[in-house]
Amino acid sequence: MEKLYIKGGKPLQGVIETGGMKNAADPIFFATLLVGDVCVIENVPDAADIRHASEILTELGAVIAYMGDHTYQIDTRYVNRANIPNALAAKLRSSYYLLGAGLGRFGCVETGYPGGCDFGSRPIDQHVKGFRALGATVEEDGVECRIRCNAEEGLKGNSVYLDVPSVGATINIMLAACRANGTTVIDNAAREPHIVDVASFLNSCGANIMGAGTPTIKIVGVENLYGSRYAVVPDMIEAGTYIMAAAATKGEVTVTGVIPRHLESLTAKLLEMGVNIEEGDDSITVHAPAPDAPPMHAVRVKTAFYPGFPTDMHPQIATLLCLAGGESKLTESVWANRFQYVPELQRMGAKLTVSGSDLLITGVPSLTPANVRAVDLRAGAAMVIAALATEGTTIVDDIHHILRGYERIVEKLNAVGADVRLVKLPDPIT
Ligand code: EPU
Repeated sequence: MEKLYIKGGKPLQGVIETGGMKNAADPIFFATLLVGDVCVIENVPDAADIRHASEILTELGAVIAYMGDHTYQIDTRYVNRANIPNALAAKLRSSYYLLGAGLGRFGCVETGYPGGCDFGSRPIDQHVKGFRALGATVEEDGVECRIRCNAEEGLKGNSVYLDVPSVGATINIMLAACRANGTTVIDNAAREPHIVDVASFLNSCGANIMGAGTPTIKIVGVENLYGSRYAVVPDMIEAGTYIMAAAATKGEVTVTGVIPRHLESLTAKLLEMGVNIEEGDDSITVHAPAPDAPPMHAVRVKTAFYPGFPTDMHPQIATLLCLAGGESKLTESVWANRFQYVPELQRMGAKLTVSGSDLLITGVPSLTPANVRAVDLRAGAAMVIAALATEGTTIVDDIHHILRGYERIVEKLNAVGADVRLVKLPDPIT
């Protein structure tokens, strides 16, 4: 059992380098299975989800070598099946990318239900609709908890309209369509930067994908793909988390290696809150407020699909708004059950009321230390921000959620003056 002991109350100061985006690196790892050749992937974050994706590929017969400096060589030439046990599938949400990649390469795939954060229902009906449109049969076996897809006659390009611009469904259908016979058009596709990144990787391997980053993506099937060398896009959510940690602690921090355009919805909100923030070409600096500066302003925030305000920064900005002056309102429009962190922040003295999909926040001058849980990945990041901004020692439990998605978070924060200790305790006897 691991916990974080965070002695907060000190402004963060210095430079934090952003790593590669977990939610792009994961699908790119599974995409190497579709490619069936030797790929070299750079700028891969050192996060637990990546280790789980590697474990799945290795189980299937891929040969993965870490070459240092966040770079992996992945050889999937000799993989001849895409069939994994339930326990492996449950280790991460992205295991569902095995469906698109396996269908595209072998015409058949079998996996268990994916894991990941618990936001209540996380349907995959749009993935299934896409696979069926391309000619696959999809069987969900609720007893064995298995998903089986088959395309004995091969996949055939088709048009797919997504009812919601789902990140996972867009990537999965793109994967399946790359080597299908004919052209696939995905309408109402997700536009997140990781969609563009996965498409760019696949194109670097010989795929023919156009329009990624727009609501209409066209994929002209090709017979074969080949290996390439590719660097994963910077993680906008990791960068945004550190930017908000800097603002919450009234620190002076430059987050480097970012694409500022990806963070516009956040920087616009922070400016509205009165945070002194400055964009460079590939960096964002949060300047410390003057000692006599008033608290940050209360604002309204609504999460939305990209380029809207990301749901994956919802818990973090909620924490920041707890420290703003006045009443803020945060509306969640992607995940119904995103508010599970609310009791944790309340334990630290936050004044929060959930009303349907709205969170009403009354700012307080400061939070108080407490023992809190990371109920999911981004909620865990929010607890870390709250703890850093609070005088005294806060203990954050269940941090395996945080470690799934934030590489070397303890080292990165301590390098800018935080006092964070990761403590390993023996597991309780059950
Ligand atoms: N949806 C459906 N049917 C589907 C798929 C999705 O109704 O078949 C709905 C969902 O219920 C949700 C919305 O569409 O309301 C968006 O879901 P999406 O499919 O985009 O989410 P996802 O692919 O399961 C990824 C990220 C999440 C992030 C969301 C939204 C990965 C592994 N996960 O999930 O990231 O919150 O997109 O941007 O890429 C995180 O990193 O902390 C995280 C949870």
